[in-house]
Amino acid sequence: MSEREVTVVITVTSARSHLYAKEPLTLIHNSKRTTMLKSYHIIACLLVLWISGCQNQISENTVYLDASAPVQQRVYDLLSRMTLEEKVAQMCQYVGLEHMRKAEQDLSKEEMEKSDAQGFYPDLHSSDVEELVTKGLIGSFLHVVDVKEANYLQALAQKSRLKIPLLIGIDAIHGTALVDGATVYPTPIGLASTWDTALVKKMSVETAREMRATGAAWTFTPNVDVAREARWGRVGETFGEDPFLVAEMGVAMIEGLQNTTHPDSFNVIACAKHLIAGSESVNGLNGAPTDLSERTIREVFLPPYKAAVDAGVFSVMTAHNELNGIACHADEWMMTDVLRGELGFEGFIVSDWMDIERLATRHFVAENQTEACYQTVKAGMDMHMHGPDFLEAIVQLVKDGRLSEKRIDESVERLLEAKFRLGLFENPFVNEQETPDILFNKEHQNTALEAAQKSVVLLKNEQLLPLEKGKYKNIFVTGPNANNETLLGDWSAKQTGENIITVLEGLKNIDQAASFDFFPVGNNPKDVTVDHVKQAKIRASKSDLAIVVVGENSFRWDWSNKNCGENSGRSDISLAGLQQELVEAVYASGTPTIVILVNGRPLATGWIDEHIPAVLEAWEPGSFGGQAIAQILYGEVNPSGKLPISIPRSVGHQLCIYNHKPTHYFHKYVDDLSTPLYPFGHGLSYSTFVYQNLELSREKISADEELKVRVEVTNTSMTDGEEIVQLYLNDTYCPVTRPVKELKAFRRIHLNAGETQQITFTVTPEMLQYLDKDFKPTVDPGEFMVMVGGSSETNQLLSIPFVVK
Ligand code: BGC
Repeated sequence: MSEREVTVVITVTSARSHLYAKEPLTLIHNSKRTTMLKSYHIIACLLVLWISGCQNQISENTVYLDASAPVQQRVYDLLSRMTLEEKVAQMCQYVGLEHMRKAEQDLSKEEMEKSDAQGFYPDLHSSDVEELVTKGLIGSFLHVVDVKEANYLQALAQKSRLKIPLLIGIDAIHGTALVDGATVYPTPIGLASTWDTALVKKMSVETAREMRATGAAWTFTPNVDVAREARWGRVGETFGEDPFLVAEMGVAMIEGLQNTTHPDSFNVIACAKHLIAGSESVNGLNGAPTDLSERTIREVFLPPYKAAVDAGVFSVMTAHNELNGIACHADEWMMTDVLRGELGFEGFIVSDWMDIERLATRHFVAENQTEACYQTVKAGMDMHMHGPDFLEAIVQLVKDGRLSEKRIDESVERLLEAKFRLGLFENPFVNEQETPDILFNKEHQNTALEAAQKSVVLLKNEQLLPLEKGKYKNIFVTGPNANNETLLGDWSAKQTGENIITVLEGLKNIDQAASFDFFPVGNNPKDVTVDHVKQAKIRASKSDLAIVVVGENSFRWDWSNKNCGENSGRSDISLAGLQQELVEAVYASGTPTIVILVNGRPLATGWIDEHIPAVLEAWEPGSFGGQAIAQILYGEVNPSGKLPISIPRSVGHQLCIYNHKPTHYFHKYVDDLSTPLYPFGHGLSYSTFVYQNLELSREKISADEELKVRVEVTNTSMTDGEEIVQLYLNDTYCPVTRPVKELKAFRRIHLNAGETQQITFTVTPEMLQYLDKDFKPTVDPGEFMVMVGGSSETNQLLSIPFVVK
């Protein structure tokens, strides 16, 4: 008997207080044209179903529908009513209907089969997906970017037997930017450059608000991959190279997103991703193998996950790559032993885009899809991103006794807990009337502007900046990123034009007396031509200031032309196309030149550093990027961003990290300097900050004691400003080799002109720990060095030793 027949019968019989088999019998008899003999069999069936139907009847008093019942009780009650299919359905995710329709419209069947990034299901139409929802056979969606579609899908889910709401997820990594009309904040590399955790928390609260207003309750962020490989296209969606800074930023984001106002409730669910270390693949390409020692994994890549789990992150996404020969999607050690066992993760694990399938089709560790499903669930997976066949495979594996139903229950409990804690059972729908007031509202705009202002890093300034209004009458502006949406970064939709302030617009708004000669050279680095280069020199020579905006392009909506962002690995990290020639030509005109970089990954810009007097790293600063950049150029805002990642001199200088081991630069390169072009933590201001009087509360402590570190910072300039005070530690001698320095604490402070502040940090026993030979956290007695200053560069740091007894 099919699912649908069962539903009909129960509905009819339970509408009456006792069983009159006649009516339902007639229904079935008519539709199936059964014989009298079959009818008796059906009566028996109905009797059984009625009895179980009574037990499973859903009324207002049903525990799982009772919002006042404890979450765990609701979970168990619901679970006890679910069939195996309904349980596994909760583990199934699909792309949104519009996303599918777009693929159906835009791509031929052959193209769809080859396409890796478009959501499509070769043998399944979007209307089939709708039907699956009404049958309760889908638990989650992604890529639903319109509130109407979200409500429509939830309405379909309400037609299902148990009315379990859908969990709609979205990549809201810097605002829910895939939704047109949303506030777009700087991408995470820019957010990390603010070193302002309170601000990141605030923008995350706002992101959650905009998500809920558009129907999503789960975001695939923060990306806590530690990014030390500039070839990797996704550096821009990370918080950079330092495990501690990544962890701090990740935690701020998780707290802001999940924003648990009550221990039982979530605002939206965050997702720490991608477990693990895909950011440092062997060749810098997304999804390529990672081969790193367990020590590096534990010292560098795992700490942000530990911090995320401690902060209560409720989902984790596994990574495309293999780690040391084991595909992450089948890595039981990482998912179950480490994440759940060692770190104590209690939420759910989701696969990355089609990566369960790839166990069979790319990694070749599973012979077929059923085997792939088996391996991943056995290893600890809770949800499949995305599409058909998973449900059938898992149900079969349970029926065959290879997976236990108890194992499935574990996953489903976590997923249902998420839905209860999100309040989706009570409020699956969004009030569409309210959405426009929430998206891109004034408060969110202000936060996006503040974040952009704090994220821009002034790399170099030889007294050209800040610009004096009125001093430069004719200003030449060019470069592919001078007047386009690259500011928005990856994981953004195109966005309504009036919601973005480009660099050119920002400049025009701020200096209305100047005349701006804008020379368009296309919107993409590869659009710049030899002729553009020639013309630029001529036009620049007629101006009294030149501003060149170069960098990268991560336009997701023009997937095949982008050179930054997801799946956009590069073999070279210098300026792409003829951008370098463009900068050189403008400089050669003799006009004072400023270079602004708008990009997602570190770029090797040694020539620019050597020749151009003022250079700004703007990253991808979001909706108000152009305004923030212009305000900084004209001194309305004092720059305060600091690099969360070292900038190498060339692609060959990698691994270029500040927290390297002592022998990393024992021998130097023979063909270039071995130092970074710009070190981690570097960033200039229009103020000057002087550090002095570094002192400790004690010179000797025992391993379980805290130590106070004090330093005085003075703003010796005439300009108020903000400084990011950084504290690093080094264990002078240790049985296991230790980094030359490690960031352990930081503080963003405001100092008025001439002001001095004493800053106190606490060094905790945990900060002194290292992982011993058996990876046990241990404190090694002996000398430590504490260093404090405004950058990781040694000559910028004051240092003082102390001893651990
Ligand atoms: C990315 C994930 C992302 C997912 C859903 C994948 O390709 O690796 O980070 O969350 O797509 O869009």
